[in-house]
Amino acid sequence: MKIESNEESAGACGRAGTAKYDRIGVGYREVRRPDPRLAALIADALGDARTVVNVGAGAGSYEPEGLEVTAVDPSRVMLDQHPGARKVRAGAEELPFPDGAFDAAMAVMTVHHWPDPARGLAELRRVSRRQAVFTWDPEHATELWLFEEYLPEAGKRDRSAFTPLSVVTGELDAHTVVPFPVPHDFTDGFRAAFWRRPESYLDPVVRAASSTLASLPASVVEPAIARLREDLRSGAWQRRHADLLDRESVDYGYRLVLAGS
Ligand SMILES: C[S@@+](CC[C@H](N)C(=O)[O-])C[C@H]1O[C@@H](n2cnc3c(N)ncnc32)[C@H](O)[C@@H]1O
Repeated sequence: MKIESNEESAGACGRAGTAKYDRIGVGYREVRRPDPRLAALIADALGDARTVVNVGAGAGSYEPEGLEVTAVDPSRVMLDQHPGARKVRAGAEELPFPDGAFDAAMAVMTVHHWPDPARGLAELRRVSRRQAVFTWDPEHATELWLFEEYLPEAGKRDRSAFTPLSVVTGELDAHTVVPFPVPHDFTDGFRAAFWRRPESYLDPVVRAASSTLASLPASVVEPAIARLREDLRSGAWQRRHADLLDRESVDYGYRLVLAGS
């Protein structure tokens, strides 16, 4: 494998992730705006594909224009925010398509929500010739300060909840893994997006669009955010993280996994 250098028809398998996104998915598009740099990487990975299935499509982020895209997601709230014409409510583990139905399959920041990632990834391979999966590697060494210093319980929980990169690459029989260091002005508000804009995490709308932060009880989040607010006010955060303030990007373990042909 090459490591490139340079992040109620749904069926039983979809139900846990469905319920979560039916609850937290409202207003998703406001904070989770697709970033053009990641979009370019994914478009490049899809190459000359004409038909694409986007599994765990949500609101349709990163679907390249000009391709025939079928969006699949078990959450009605998420599919309602998807602007496309071809939308199917289903879980990754039981894709309602024949073998080889698509030139390519894409899946962006979704595998960790699937109750059975191995089965979902096998389904991606079954229905498409090429696969591009963007995910976070829970075994990556560098952790975001938010989870090291303010919400260690959440950091620990994510590390056990996210699918290990070795499972994603193994199930897909991947040939390439492309690291995606997160730019300081990244527009898609997932987990580590605001590493150089700490004040963003004070915003409840930003926290609501991250499944990690939205899933935590207020009794855990509120005191942690109050400490962050105070550290920003006093300058303690800036003193502790002076090394981050002039960095353009940081590798927090986001990876694009490529498989097939
Ligand atoms: C973080 S969102 C990512 C959405 C979109 N791919 C993006 O990049 O914005 C995760 C998505 O996975 C979906 N999901 C949850 N369980 C799923 C399953 N079993 N199969 C497919 N998608 C699932 C959720 O409904 C949600 O839309």
